[in-house]
Amino acid sequence: MTSQTLREARKYEDMVEKTIQKKERPNFHLCARVGWLNDPNGFSYYKGKYHMFYQYYPYESKWGPMHWGHAVSGDFLHWEYLPAALAPDEFYDKDGCFSGSAAALPDGRHLLMYTGVLKERQKNGEFREVQTQCLAVGDGIDYEKYEQNPVLDEKDLPDEGSRFDFRDPKIWQKKDGSYACVIGNRQTGGSGQILLYTSPDGFRWNYKKVLAANNDRYGRMWECPDFFELDGKWVLLASPQDMLPQGLEYHNGNGTLCLIGDYDEETETFMELHNQSVDYGIDFYAPQTVLTPDGRRVMIGWMQNWDTCSLRLPEEPWMGQMSLPRELAIKDGKLYQTPVRELEKFRYSKVEYNSVSFSNILRLDGIHGRCVDMELVVRPEEGQKLYQKFAVRFAQDENYHTSLSFRPRESILKIDRKFSGSRRAIIHQRRSFVEGADTKLKLRIILDRFSVEVFVDDGRQVLSATMYTDQTADGISFFVDGTAVIDVVKYDLCE
Ligand code: FRU
Repeated sequence: MTSQTLREARKYEDMVEKTIQKKERPNFHLCARVGWLNDPNGFSYYKGKYHMFYQYYPYESKWGPMHWGHAVSGDFLHWEYLPAALAPDEFYDKDGCFSGSAAALPDGRHLLMYTGVLKERQKNGEFREVQTQCLAVGDGIDYEKYEQNPVLDEKDLPDEGSRFDFRDPKIWQKKDGSYACVIGNRQTGGSGQILLYTSPDGFRWNYKKVLAANNDRYGRMWECPDFFELDGKWVLLASPQDMLPQGLEYHNGNGTLCLIGDYDEETETFMELHNQSVDYGIDFYAPQTVLTPDGRRVMIGWMQNWDTCSLRLPEEPWMGQMSLPRELAIKDGKLYQTPVRELEKFRYSKVEYNSVSFSNILRLDGIHGRCVDMELVVRPEEGQKLYQKFAVRFAQDENYHTSLSFRPRESILKIDRKFSGSRRAIIHQRRSFVEGADTKLKLRIILDRFSVEVFVDDGRQVLSATMYTDQTADGISFFVDGTAVIDVVKYDLCE
């Protein structure tokens, strides 16, 4: 039975969606159907399609009582909106259906596991959000909340685990057919930890252990965990809040964390070997992955950051978009990301330049656009001094641009959207340390109307940022202080 709250949300999105033109949305990145979108939820392959749900408040382009929006795709790039899947309509989730995940059940139904939020009055009169884990079961369109919700609550927490920070279950099916999930939690002292739970059937859940503890290393609370096997290792993703910077690896505020290690499935013990950021740009948070039928691990994140949401005005018809789906791999013990290979089918009108030697400013015929896939290789000119700085500017007209610049002597790559038309005093730049690029800097830059994603050195690092520069600003130009040689291959990406 669909509740009144969900019916209203469905009616509203159906009506208001029509007022948003196709051109006002990204071309191939998923954005809110109407209103607000944050984390990817329930990213799964079900009945021959990729399902993406998302944290959703349809009524305004700002965060509000969380619903789950819903879209499906056959190729990760053409998304079709489906009616909102969940609304905050039960006593245990009346203040929000927070993030969660999905899995197929053996009987063919689709299981959603999410965090139910309920505000509770404390002795001092303050309200705090109590978080529990809940289920809903459906057919890929309509979902019924489980009558025994919540299935995990404070009774299922380890000692010192806070019931106010207990959220974002990521479920997976194990080889023996049983289920497991990881959930973000905070110890009473304030530091984050990831809890592991198992279930024989997806409905009855048991607490197992603390899979990983932050111990105040990376921020405080860890949100939105994901845990999976990749190239013989295991990867734990989390999104820490309240980070302090560590060199250029981690920055202040909400960040992303990737821990790569070994996992003993018998004893359920995770041994961390390596840590790194998932994305080195400005806007990326709360990623979630899916395993494709052909065995690829594909990740999508919320291409936004809590601290920079004011970049887009609340009057806009939608706020919040997902990142490009990225195929993950581990090479030399590190996380690599490349745009899903499906994107290659979107490319047309190839323009290519090889070994163009230049000083100062370079513009090339046919190199412009706001839906673009562009590969650049920049090298020092043989026999010449190493250049001081290289930059590529895009989304450019006489007033505006966003840029990516590289200083080979310092090995620092910087993304800068200060001149993108933003009128807010938020973060507009971020720098990242790119090793070994002084002899050859290789970049793949993907533009999709309101965003840029930069894949450095075949995916060793990624930098993502949103920008809302007017679409008429579609120039691309290159700059070098000194002399450099550049190869450019550029495609337009499908409308
Ligand atoms: C992360 C997050 C989650 C929570 C959701 C609420 O961005 O804070 O921890 O479930 O957003 O919308």
